[in-house]
Order: sequence, then C-alpha cells, then structure tokens
Amino acid sequence: MENNIKKIRVGGASGYDVLIGSQILGDTGAYLGGIFSPCKVALITDDIVDKLYSDVVLSSLKAHGFECIKYVFENGEKSKNIGLYAQILEFLAQNGLTRSDKIIALGGGVTGDLAGFVAASYLRGVDYVQIPTTLLAQIDSSVGGKTGLDLPQGKNLVGAIYRPKLVLCDVALLNTLPADVLACGKGELAKYAILDRAVYDLVLNNAPILDLVFACVGYKAKIVDMDEHEHGERRLLNLGHTPAHAIERLSGYTILHGVAVSMGLGLILKASKNLGYITDSQLLDMQGVIEKLVGKVSCPYTIEQIIDNTLTDKKREGKDINLVLVRGVGDCFIQKMPFNGLIDCFL
Ligand code: GLY
Repeated sequence: MENNIKKIRVGGASGYDVLIGSQILGDTGAYLGGIFSPCKVALITDDIVDKLYSDVVLSSLKAHGFECIKYVFENGEKSKNIGLYAQILEFLAQNGLTRSDKIIALGGGVTGDLAGFVAASYLRGVDYVQIPTTLLAQIDSSVGGKTGLDLPQGKNLVGAIYRPKLVLCDVALLNTLPADVLACGKGELAKYAILDRAVYDLVLNNAPILDLVFACVGYKAKIVDMDEHEHGERRLLNLGHTPAHAIERLSGYTILHGVAVSMGLGLILKASKNLGYITDSQLLDMQGVIEKLVGKVSCPYTIEQIIDNTLTDKKREGKDINLVLVRGVGDCFIQKMPFNGLIDCFL
C-alpha cells in the first residue's frame, strides 16, 4: 500500500475516514481488510464503471479473503428509481447477503446515492464503503452520508443520511472521465472555491487535483461535523443550487447538475451584488474563478422561467425560500427571501 495518502476523519470517533491518493484502487482489499474481517461484499456499479474498474477492485478484494458478488446497472440518473432499488434488494437477498456482510458503491453520484440507500435500508442497515470515481462524487456526494432515490415528482425525494464506513478517493480515476462529466465536477469545485478561501487560492494557483480534492473534502467534513442533518451550516453547501435545480428541471435534465450549478453560482453572485453584499470588483474576481474552472457558460433560461420553476423547490418554506448568498470568498450566509420580489434581486 502507498504511504502518500491523505486522510480526513468525518464525524469524530464514531465516524469514518476519507482516504485520498493516486493509484490506490488496486489496494481496495487491503483497505477493507484493515477495518472488516473477511466476509461477503456486494459491489454495486454502473455499466461504464464496471468495464473500467470492477476487475481491479474484485481481484484485490478476493486476494484479501473477501467473497464477492456484483450488481451492474445502466449508467445515468434514470437508474436512481424505486424499481431498480427493489431489484438490487432482491439480488442481495437471493445471494444471501447478511447483516455482517458489506456493500461497495463504485461509481459517481448516482451509484453512491443508490447503493448508499440500499445499504441504509437492506436488513435495516449494512456497512458500506464509497469508492467515488467522478470529480463530483470525490469532492462532494461521497462524503456526508446523503443517500437517496428520485421519484417521478423530483430528484432525491426519498433518502436517508447513512454514514459509510470508509471513502476511498483515487484521483487517478479522474483521468478517464469524459469531458462533460469532468465539467460537472468542476461546477461543484467552483462552489467550494466560493465557500472556502483555501480552495479558491488553490484554484488560482493551479494546484494539483489531489490537493483540490483534499481541500474540498476537508471543508465539507468540517461542515458535516457541525450539522450532519442539514438544519444549519450544511445548507451553505446548497450555494448556487436553488437556481441550478430549476435550470436542470427546465432542461428536462439534459443540462448536467454541475454545469447547472456553475450557472446558478453566476446568478447568485449577481443577486448578492444587487443586494449590496459584494462589490463589482468582488463579483468580477469570483466570476473569473468560476470561468477558470468551467469556461464561459450562459444560462439558456430567463430569470422569470427560473423563479417560476423554483416554486416547486423542496427548499421552499411557504411563501419564502432560503437562498445562500455571498458576502465574499469564504463568507456565505443563508437568507430567507419572500418569493414576491425575488425577481428584482436577480435582474
Ligand atoms: N451535496 C450537498 C450536501 O452533501 O449537503
């Protein structure tokens, strides 16, 4: 096993480690062997990731005495549904997975959410490990225990906060990411750059990807330690997401989440400026960092369309909505805004 691994603990003594390194996937068996006795492991992954990485993971697990089964599903957000969830549960039951056995989520955000929710609910909860293979999953969705499924009525409407036992981030896996999937992660990275001065400076200084992943996970771990169940500080991680969710819905989910987040960040920065929280020059600096990461993106929808669509957002509270606004890099806050008049602050 490689020594050059960075480690972040989430959730204190009863929490879990996030290990970040390069070329560590082939040591999966050793890492699991460090925290679990040999048992049966169900690897859950999508068809694209399966072709790239399942063999490496499975042979490492077998070499360390784990018995393995594998469930492969079709890649894409449409797989995060109750029908597929039920099929996976039945697969685990048919294969005799017991409460002392383990689940691995190998893949991006969809796989982590789906396999994580399977782990949270099968036999009222079995241990699971996240092995995120996309930038978005490494810096955001694999950490913090959010698991869930979509309903026809909206994304992530079913779910649970369920902590993994370990998160293994191999940044070498990011080298095979298609450009659109990488851009998606960079939208979330732009969010972390506005939330946290350390990430912002690393982006400006063209830091290596391992350092960026480490900084984002470090920031997220601090927030999750303060507020795992999203009653307070964790809501800051929704920076840019209220308009982004509307943009995704308006596009019929053809605009990828992270790309919509970068559009949403632009709108939120503009609102923060219109409301007098940031100056023109702060706005330009922050827009510059977003552009450095994701290039120039222009939102194809009007503010009226976005606000209309936001009426169905699950963060809505009666006649109000909670927006995350910006006072500066590393200085974001939540403000309850009435829907009436919301449009003025975006124009
Ligand atoms: N992706 C935001 C969160 O985990 O809270």
